[in-house]
Amino acid sequence: MPFSSLFSRIFFLFILVQYSANGQVKKPSIIDNESLYRPNFHFTPQKGWMNDPNGMIFLNGQYHLFYQHYPDATVWGPMHWGQATSKDLVQWEHQPIALYPDSIGMIFSGSTVLDQNNTSGLGRGGIAPLVAIFTQHFMPGEKAGRTDFQNQSIAYSLDKGKTWTKYAGNPVLKTPNLKDFRDPKVIWHNPSQKWVMSLAVANHIEFYSSPNLINWSKESELGKDLFAHGGVWECPDLLSFNVNGQNVWVLLVSMNPGGPNSGSATQYIVGDFDGHVFKPFTTEIKWMDYGPDNYAGVSFSNTGDRKILIGWMSNWNYANIVPTEKWRSAMTVPRELSLVKQKANQNDFLLVSNPVKELNAHFTKIVSKENIVAEKELSLTSAKNKIPNRIDLENLKATDFEIIFSNAYNEKLIVGYEAAKKQFFIDRRNAGVSNFYEGFAAIATAPRFLANTTMDLTLLIDKTSVELFADGGRTVMTALFFPTYPFTNCMLKSKDSISIKAIDLFSFK
Ligand code: FRU
Repeated sequence: MPFSSLFSRIFFLFILVQYSANGQVKKPSIIDNESLYRPNFHFTPQKGWMNDPNGMIFLNGQYHLFYQHYPDATVWGPMHWGQATSKDLVQWEHQPIALYPDSIGMIFSGSTVLDQNNTSGLGRGGIAPLVAIFTQHFMPGEKAGRTDFQNQSIAYSLDKGKTWTKYAGNPVLKTPNLKDFRDPKVIWHNPSQKWVMSLAVANHIEFYSSPNLINWSKESELGKDLFAHGGVWECPDLLSFNVNGQNVWVLLVSMNPGGPNSGSATQYIVGDFDGHVFKPFTTEIKWMDYGPDNYAGVSFSNTGDRKILIGWMSNWNYANIVPTEKWRSAMTVPRELSLVKQKANQNDFLLVSNPVKELNAHFTKIVSKENIVAEKELSLTSAKNKIPNRIDLENLKATDFEIIFSNAYNEKLIVGYEAAKKQFFIDRRNAGVSNFYEGFAAIATAPRFLANTTMDLTLLIDKTSVELFADGGRTVMTALFFPTYPFTNCMLKSKDSISIKAIDLFSFK
């Protein structure tokens, strides 16, 4: 080996690994914020701030994602609708900003529909318009202590979402002087042949209907004295499922604070909806995702029988202060929602979430094993110093276990199960940087809904997030973490013996 090459190798090693005075290996200092924290397979804005997903719609083979966006800073500010498009829900192309604030206000959360029959009259030359329905928040009004600063407006696009024109008669639905009056999610209600809007109004949901997306009349209210009320209700979504021939409706309601593991979270209500009133089957409080970091999730419009949800992967407790530099926030992976009956002959349903199948094409299987029995620990490290991005465990014995992701610097993230309490947990107490918010270094827990002696488990692990789907998506948890150096090791540990029918470990391509 020529001297120069040897020299450069030694020099490179010197840069890579530095030794501290006491001889301990110090972290390589060349990892920048972008490569450490920019996710591999979760959507993030190129720069600036992002919160809720908005106006998601599927159109001519393309998924459109709009989102709450402030391009000029990495903290919440005057809201725009950012935009991205994707053919497969995984690879997103950034698009120009779709909607800018105007004299009526900032552009808050809302939805988009395809007005196939041109009920709005906004179509031209046979082109069915895309219509976005959103809240406009008039900041000077809020600052002046008024109560009429949140109103619903619309905008339309005749070029498949590329450019948008705001409707000249905005706002189309004025607040009855209620200061929290926002986040319209609109669907076409086929049985009654009209548009139905679900709207978040402080501590309840209001339903409005319209023949044309322009004139709205109030139908009913739901939830004032029922369900979880630890915070303000936001971002509803009304979905219908066919469960073995039974038509069942689900109302998603995000709420901040008051989530099961502190701060923001999304509850859901199961029942009947006739285009006029929503009648809940039970008043039990149910959470779509028990982790601390899935908020304001709503579904795509125009996807037929598929119900695909994306959530904002953060929490208002600390969203503005997480340690990313060029951008703030990521979205969850898209999830397919379904509804399962818990007990036959009873209207007792569970909302189930699973990663969309489109993700599969982006993962390479690194390890695949069957009928595994181990004493107390089993390595799930997929290659040298590499943790898998996806772990699928089939028929894992439902005893206490911990899946530990760690690096050489005593940082670890633990995802596990406690059989006595019948609960899953994510422990990020020592998972890296947490000093930006006091309650960040915590353990989040979630109930198990099945009593089987084995369970199926899927974990999606990106640079700063873990998403757990247990028992076929009956228990779901999403949590962020910010290691100071990537995790390089993954270990499954149990006090009991470990038994698993099949293990598949994948890397994101
Ligand atoms: C939810 C939310 C919405 C609002 C938007 C503002 O996270 O508070 O209610 O429309 O964010 O950015």
